[in-house]
Amino acid sequence: MTDLRNYISTHSLGSPLQAAAGEAILALSDAAAQIATLIREPDSSADFAAAQGSANADGDTQKALDVICDEIVASALAAAGVSTYLSEEREEPVSMDKDGLVIVACDPLDGSSNIDTNLSIGTIFSLLPAATGPLQPGRNQLASGFFVYGPQTTLLLTMGEGVHAFQMDASGVFHLLDWAVSIPAQTSEFAINAANARFWHAPAAAYVADCIAGAEGSRGRDFNMRWLGSLVADSWRIFRRGGVFLYPGDRRAGYSEGRLRLIYEAAPVAFLVEQAGGRATDGKNAIMDIVPEFLHQRVPFMFGSDTEMEEIIRHHS
Ligand code: F6P
Ligand code: MN
Repeated sequence: MTDLRNYISTHSLGSPLQAAAGEAILALSDAAAQIATLIREPDSSADFAAAQGSANADGDTQKALDVICDEIVASALAAAGVSTYLSEEREEPVSMDKDGLVIVACDPLDGSSNIDTNLSIGTIFSLLPAATGPLQPGRNQLASGFFVYGPQTTLLLTMGEGVHAFQMDASGVFHLLDWAVSIPAQTSEFAINAANARFWHAPAAAYVADCIAGAEGSRGRDFNMRWLGSLVADSWRIFRRGGVFLYPGDRRAGYSEGRLRLIYEAAPVAFLVEQAGGRATDGKNAIMDIVPEFLHQRVPFMFGSDTEMEEIIRHHS
């Protein structure tokens, strides 16, 4: 079986920049292995879901595990020659190696409202060339991916040549799975937090109403709905069997641009989605083309199966 180190060595021989990206991915996989072990082992002194008192850079309440994971990722990257670390959990960029070639943007612990529910959580990352600074469009990404800490600990990775999936063994090594990752173009499954329905703008509301009308409505077939409240877990499902995910902007205070962050949540997932044949949009623009104006910027985020995304984009035009 090919492990992640072998996989990377065959994909990043080309340039010093690619080699640096490969080092950063291996460091992230070490961090992920530490996180997976930490959350799996019983420890009566650890309350990972406890609020930390402070809110993170975007106003979400930080949980103890958010902070621990951020520290694990930061120390793994500091030893891997990374130029700058951008984290959901830190207000400002962290400068690391002045000669480093890559920036790593990261959501160290995605889905933290699921920590104490034994549902899947994960780590999302995006690698950018350091030469062009922290505020770059997703199109510039050298690599992106996310780890899922669930029944299996897994990694979905793109280095710009398709998407590959890995699964961690008991010793913390990630092995390439025999899965040609490709999002089915057609789907009858959507994911959205329906509790916000009364706040949605017309395009998302109309799209979801059509899905719910099912066989009796204009779509002429029934749909199914899934929402885990954990972007990594909802995404993994969509890569596996198709589907669409919507976190649109809505009328709640602070949600005009939805909830998800462009640089370290939407852009890395969008890179994977495009590489797997799907589409990712804010309704009008490809997520990959949006140039961020600030680090913790939010973006309406919709992605998934290509044909179904056309329907969503049609509602927005
Ligand atoms: O990181 C933000 C996040 O936890 C995602 O993992 C998830 O998709 C979303 O928020 C859930 O948001 P809500 O709680 O509003 O449904
Ligand atoms: Mn997140």
